[in-house]
Amino acid sequence: MQIFIYDTEKEIGQAAGKIFVDHVKANPNAAMGFATGMTPVPTYDYMAGEYEKGNVSFAGMKTFNLDEYCDLPREHKNSFYTFMMDNLFSRIDVKPENINFLDGNAPDQSAESERYAQAIIDAGGIDVQFLGIGRNGHIAFNEPAGGFTGEAFKVKLTDSTIEANSIYFDDIAMPRYAMTMGIGSIMRAKKIVFVATGASKAEAVKAMVQGEVTPECPASILQTHDDVTVFLDRAASQGLGVRN
Ligand code: GLP
Repeated sequence: MQIFIYDTEKEIGQAAGKIFVDHVKANPNAAMGFATGMTPVPTYDYMAGEYEKGNVSFAGMKTFNLDEYCDLPREHKNSFYTFMMDNLFSRIDVKPENINFLDGNAPDQSAESERYAQAIIDAGGIDVQFLGIGRNGHIAFNEPAGGFTGEAFKVKLTDSTIEANSIYFDDIAMPRYAMTMGIGSIMRAKKIVFVATGASKAEAVKAMVQGEVTPECPASILQTHDDVTVFLDRAASQGLGVRN
C-alpha cells in the first residue's frame, strides 16, 4: 500500500482524480470501478473539470459501480445511480450504454450477480477501482462478517451503516438491503485507489492499514492487493502514528 496524506479534500480529489484521468488518456476504453459516498465527490469534481477544460474524453470508458440499494427505484434521488449521474456521469461524455450498475431490484439476485461478473469480464476486468470506507471498515457494502465475500450478493446493512447513511433519506426510510460487489470481485481490479477523510474514519483506516487481515474489518484485505494507493487527510490518518 502506498499512503499519501494531504491537508484538504480538494487536494485528495486532484490526486485521486488524476489517476483516473491519466489512465483514461492512456487507455480510452478502460473499465473503471466507481464508488459513492461524500468522500469521492472532490475526485469526481476534478474529473469533470478536466473534461470541461477539454483535457480528456471519457467517451470510450466503461464504468462499474460498487453497489446499489434494494427496494429503491433506480431514479430515486437517493439511489447510487442518481448520485453518480449528478456527481459525475451527467458532467462528462461517458456513454449511457457504458454505465453499469447492479440492479438492486433484480428478482433473481444470483442471476444478477452472474450478469455483473460477466459484464466485468467482457469489459476486460476493472482497471482502476475507486473505494471509500465505512466507519465500521466496510468497503462497497461488504459489512464486517465471518468470512470474506466473493462475487456480488444481496446484503443486509448493519446498524452502523444505516445510522451513517440515513441522514440522506428525508422522504422515505433508508433501505435495509443492498446489492454489492463482493470482496472477490473488488480484489480482481488491477489497481485500487482508496480515499478516506475525517476523524470518523480514523479507527477504520488504522484497522485497514495496520490491523490483522480479517473479515471483521473487510477493508483489511487490501493489505494483500499489490497495487493500492491510499489518500487520507490528517484527521483520517491520525491513528497511524505518522507525524502530521
Ligand atoms: C457507503 C458506500 C461505500 C462508501 C461508504 C462511506 O455506504 N457503500 O462505498 O465508501 O458509504 O461513505 P462516505 O464517503 O460518505 O463516508
